[in-house]
Amino acid sequence: MIIPVTKNQHPKEKPQMPLGFGRYFTDHMFVAHFTRAKGWHDPKVVPYAPLPMDPAAAVFHYAQSMFEGLKAFRHKNNEIVIFRPEFNAQRMAKGALRLCMPEVPQELFLKGIETLVAVDSAWVPKEKGSSLYIRPTLIGSEAFLGVRPADEYTFFVILSPVAGYYSAGSKPVKIWVEKNQIRAARGGLGEVKAAANYVSALQAATLARPKGFDQVLWLDAVHKSYIEEVGTMNVFFVFKNEIVTPALQGTILPGGLRECCLELLKSWGKPVRERAITIEEVAKAHVQGELLEVFGTGTAAVISPVGELVYEDNAMKFKYDDNSISHQLYKEITDIQYGEKPDTRNWLRRLSFEKS
Ligand SMILES: Cc1ncc(COP(=O)(O)O)c(C=O)c1O
Repeated sequence: MIIPVTKNQHPKEKPQMPLGFGRYFTDHMFVAHFTRAKGWHDPKVVPYAPLPMDPAAAVFHYAQSMFEGLKAFRHKNNEIVIFRPEFNAQRMAKGALRLCMPEVPQELFLKGIETLVAVDSAWVPKEKGSSLYIRPTLIGSEAFLGVRPADEYTFFVILSPVAGYYSAGSKPVKIWVEKNQIRAARGGLGEVKAAANYVSALQAATLARPKGFDQVLWLDAVHKSYIEEVGTMNVFFVFKNEIVTPALQGTILPGGLRECCLELLKSWGKPVRERAITIEEVAKAHVQGELLEVFGTGTAAVISPVGELVYEDNAMKFKYDDNSISHQLYKEITDIQYGEKPDTRNWLRRLSFEKS
């Protein structure tokens, strides 16, 4: 596959630290189009610019929109690697079907990202903790107001140099257990990285923030009891005798970092299980001193330890230090991402700079 590149004649100044998250964008973007007649066509890397979009495009009216999130890292020898892009290609392809959108073929997804990251490789930051965040996005772009799946789509990828989510590694967060609003219901879109899921989750987090909370813990839609996710992360509970993460049953986004943590914990001989877990079980285990840690997993923060989990008027506190399981996972994963430990699981895709 040949992906033509049009170089940006007016490159931007690189941003100074601190980079923050999702604030700056590189000089180029990748774009490809789909029509029912032609299938996927015209993939190209072009200067970063606003997308021409008809105001009647499906994305604006019926939320035919989904995205992915992954990262590229710079190693000490200046080699650039992308963390598990095949995983994101597959998750997007699966989710597209649920949203009645055409799958982006894996080759187009991977080649598009690789070409773009190679063109903007100077934007991959050096400092440990920082990385180049990759945001592939798929939208319905047909101009038509009838309620049906669009006949035209745009797939684009943009890049944003980002700092580590927490400057000094993982910082414990304060979480509110949300009993009123829900993130997803069975049969809905919860397991898909649909844009619509994010707007539906905004208000609970927005209401929790002035009360001093960083995010909310989501419970199931029917019983308001089974734990699903924490903010925009998957969640793990470290009990004295086992480590538990909620089983995937349609309402939880199957996270890439969730998979990595399950794999690492198993390889370390830890008793880890994917099963249903209720907030009542968690509260009881905390009272009994059986619950040692709670943490979230996701691309942006890698691992986010929960320092405090507040369920109604019960504030559960957890300590976090170098011996915490969450810290060990954070260290292992980031050491692999930054090339400080061998990549024995084939998680890194090395960027080849050969011109297509
Ligand atoms: C709702 C939600 N859950 C979980 C995750 C974690 O997924 P991943 O580990 O693939 O980043 C994300 C993405 O960051 C998310 O948006």
